[in-house]
Amino acid sequence: AQADVGVIGMAVMGSNLARNMAHKGFRVALYNRTAARTDQVMADHGDEGVFLPSHELDDFVASLERPRRVVMMVKAGAGTDAVIGEVVPLLEPGDILVDGGNSFFKDTRRREAALRETGIHYVGTGISGGEVGALEGPSIMPGGSKESYKAIGPVLEKISAHVDGEPCCAWMGTDGAGHFVKMVHNGIEYADMQFIGEAHALLRAAGLSNAEASEVFAGWNTGDLDSYLIEITSRVLATKDPRGTGQDLVDVIADAAGMKGTGTWTVQTALEMGVGVSTIGEAVFARAVSSAPALRAAGQAALQGPDRQIAVEDRQGFIDDVRSALWCAKVVAYSQGLDEIRTAAQEYGWEVDMAKVASIWRDGCIIRARLLQRIRDEYAAHDLTTLLEAPSVRAELGESQGAWRRVIARATEAGVPVPGFASALGYYDQVRAPRLNAALTQGLRDLFGAHTYKRVDDEGSWHTLWSGDGSEISAD
Ligand code: 6PG
Repeated sequence: AQADVGVIGMAVMGSNLARNMAHKGFRVALYNRTAARTDQVMADHGDEGVFLPSHELDDFVASLERPRRVVMMVKAGAGTDAVIGEVVPLLEPGDILVDGGNSFFKDTRRREAALRETGIHYVGTGISGGEVGALEGPSIMPGGSKESYKAIGPVLEKISAHVDGEPCCAWMGTDGAGHFVKMVHNGIEYADMQFIGEAHALLRAAGLSNAEASEVFAGWNTGDLDSYLIEITSRVLATKDPRGTGQDLVDVIADAAGMKGTGTWTVQTALEMGVGVSTIGEAVFARAVSSAPALRAAGQAALQGPDRQIAVEDRQGFIDDVRSALWCAKVVAYSQGLDEIRTAAQEYGWEVDMAKVASIWRDGCIIRARLLQRIRDEYAAHDLTTLLEAPSVRAELGESQGAWRRVIARATEAGVPVPGFASALGYYDQVRAPRLNAALTQGLRDLFGAHTYKRVDDEGSWHTLWSGDGSEISAD
């Protein structure tokens, strides 16, 4: 046995992660179900470090130092269960099996519980950063037992991105906590992209070309919106059709967003726990509407409204307002996502450190952004119920809300759809309102279904005899 760590699955993410490990000085065992793929990785990259390729799974396991550290980079779902079924009989108590795929956290909880009985540590781990991140330093969100982190943490920390010497990798909590945090990361990613799309649509509605919008995003990327997604937005908008039609690439890409499902999981899970993640929900629904051609054709043919042109007198003022709206909406999405993590931590008994979550998202992952430094500092300094109450955040929301409201008003008047911006503002106004419309909801529920209500001035549950003499009775 000579390998420090082994990787199962030599598709792009797996091979890039293995190469990253080798670049950092680890001796890396490699295995792929189709041996030719392993041979190809060796032919292309075998000279980049110490690799121990195996064509058979038992040879792969035998090549690992104990306790064995095995990282699976295979398709989430049935593929992962199949690999677990093959590799687990070859492992021993104390060995560590990492699932680095985008697994659903409930699957991870189930698998971890099943393996715990055998003494094998199952470490569901979120890894973000795409192909380049896997190779050069992703953000890594491991769950599993605290004990397992002692063995696998140093490897994962070394291959992760770093900010000021701090790794973008930290233990997130037991069993499915790592995959949960990654799931919410992706939900926030969806919201972030929806807001960027709305900002772009508004700039276009105000008469900017894609090239001009690209410059605007590039400018924003030098301020407090500085983030990977803003940076690559500027790049995509500046790109011409590679086929040489002379058109902007973004104008020839079909306007129907795809998704693999992690955003949907984020919303489903929030619904189950009763946490409001409206911005992430809007982003998932916006992708669904974009991909419903029959609905859109019917709507385009049947529905009247303004022509999506915004006449701006003060162009720079409008651009600055859109910038503010984007920042405010983004903060709400982060706040909602972090609230979902905080709630899940209570529900599942995870010791999630919110400052750590923000800290490991600062680099390597798709949502990396300057804002995350501030979020980290705020969570480190204060015990926050919501990110929105953090001193620096609420101050900036207070200052920027005028712009946020103006942008939504202009968009609404012009017929430019901004479901993300509007839902973020709706949430902001909801959580700061002393009374919502829920009292009336309770009244209605009591009238039609005797569902009872509570009172502001008394304890207990009450019911009005709506079809009787109109008096109130105790429902306890
Ligand atoms: C990451 C990404 C990655 C993947 C998304 C895309 O963190 O590296 O989030 O996991 O690109 O799952 O998701 P959709 O295909 O659903 O947009």
